[in-house]
Amino acid sequence: MDSTNLKALELAKQGAAEGTIVIAARQTAGRGRMRRKWESPEGKGLWFSMILRPTIAAEYCAQITLLTAVAAVKALQVLTDKKFSIKWPNDIMLDGKKVCGILAEMALTADGSIEYAVVGIGININMSSEDFGAQLEATATSLYLATGIEYEHEQVLKAFLDEFDLLYSHWHCCGFALIRQDWLDYSCTLGHKVTVRDNDTEIYSGVAEDMDDYG
Ligand code: BTN
Repeated sequence: MDSTNLKALELAKQGAAEGTIVIAARQTAGRGRMRRKWESPEGKGLWFSMILRPTIAAEYCAQITLLTAVAAVKALQVLTDKKFSIKWPNDIMLDGKKVCGILAEMALTADGSIEYAVVGIGININMSSEDFGAQLEATATSLYLATGIEYEHEQVLKAFLDEFDLLYSHWHCCGFALIRQDWLDYSCTLGHKVTVRDNDTEIYSGVAEDMDDYG
């Protein structure tokens, strides 16, 4: 299909239940953050979107992607025995390169709460150097490139959903505190120099020290 996020947004608008998942073998118009394209070749990765209907105010919406990033790290670490990290806000990194991206899109109700959210996740599973091409290979990797193992897509999906299910339930009952702590523990941004830009204009630079409840 074009994009699992687009399809999930359409289904959510029609009333699809929380927990509905859209998976594609291949995306022809995979969407990344900041209007970037997300390469999604057939059989090389897990490209899917989840429909969520959390009952929270829109100002806390960043917590959904941060929690998704924590679930992805936990799942991938259990599966591969490798160490993953999170580059703010929610890029999952392996050996200093991006292995998984997360794109959340949502619709709000008139009173400013979230009507539905679609969280799209792309995990590069069996991409080879040729699949990436020279330019992308400098910044992107896959589970296969890092481990030499060809993981089954279903196996990766199950590992992710098991972790996500636990964290999403925890978030509903007990809030963001423990998830935020996990995020901080996995972060490869904190303690490093960062530059804040508005397009090409540098606003300021400094050392990233913390992340608050708003992400
Ligand atoms: C990013 O820029 O890091 C976010 C990438 C998100 C890609 C996934 S693949 C499945 C879902 N469908 C899309 O069109 N995008 C997300």
